[in-house]
Amino acid sequence: MRTVTTPDEARRLIGEMRERGGTVGFVPTMGALHAGHESLVRMARERTDIVVSSIFVNPRQFGPGEDFERYPRMIERDSAALERLGCDVLFVPARGSIYSGDDRTTITIAGLGDRLCGASRPGHFEGVLLVVAKLFNVVRPDAAFFGQKDAQQAVIIQRMTADLDMPVRIYIGPTVREPDGLAMSSRNAYLEPGARERAPAMRRGLLEAMEVVRRGERDARAAERIVRDRMREAGFEVEYAEVVDPATMEPVGRIDGIVLIAAAGRLGRTRLIDNIALRVEGGDVAETLLEFPGWSRYEW
Ligand code: PAJ
Repeated sequence: MRTVTTPDEARRLIGEMRERGGTVGFVPTMGALHAGHESLVRMARERTDIVVSSIFVNPRQFGPGEDFERYPRMIERDSAALERLGCDVLFVPARGSIYSGDDRTTITIAGLGDRLCGASRPGHFEGVLLVVAKLFNVVRPDAAFFGQKDAQQAVIIQRMTADLDMPVRIYIGPTVREPDGLAMSSRNAYLEPGARERAPAMRRGLLEAMEVVRRGERDARAAERIVRDRMREAGFEVEYAEVVDPATMEPVGRIDGIVLIAAAGRLGRTRLIDNIALRVEGGDVAETLLEFPGWSRYEW
């Protein structure tokens, strides 16, 4: 694995590798890698020839008072893990090499970006889109891999690539979980032991909501109530628990077709999110992966 620290170096090295032939797969991360990130690197390894990952704690996607400063940083450990997984290029932008400081361009996505996590973290998705677009311009991947754990992020990125004719295919990988169901997250490290035990309640609430839908419930508000109640009982301060159309992130009234039940809340100082996507066809209810066929004009 080669490690590069500036956009120029990354562009040159990946460009040379691409010329020798093969497709480029890209897994952007903020580091503190866990099995969730690793599953995306494996997915890239299976589907593309040259695997590139980046580690950059992007200041623009953190709000004032959020955890930018204390976000876990462990580059040596992460680098070893990526090497083991067969990553070819690791891009770790040096401080100051991504944002020139006099940049003025922003990317916003009307509606989609203002709801759910976008409502509680103003500017967050603008920061994510800006850095992802910039990284795409450096790496120029044929395919990029994102986790369904951050479903809204994955959908917004898919929307941006389609709207801006970015020639990259977006893959969404399933959420990887701890044995007790808690979605893996670099932020889980912040949980104190008592809170860690209570954290899986969010997942249990989402599964219980799926169960009641299986038993015939189609009222979105009723499903949301279950998630919210389970979270509150476990001590979460609930930020949202909503049944939405994953293409727009707008709330739905009736549960039908593909819906996303998404939740966010705080346990002590730690903010956690999780979701479950359901495919509901008549009486059939199944957990599903998000997919957006037809959004992009590019074909592979
Ligand atoms: P980060 O939180 O490091 O996550 C990097 C990628 O790993 C994202 O696509 C995220 O959805 C995925 N991921 C995280 N936890 C996962 C889990 N438990 N199972 C499956 N995938 C998981 O998301 C970001 O970084 C940033 O916003 C980024 C896209 C890198 C832009 O800065």
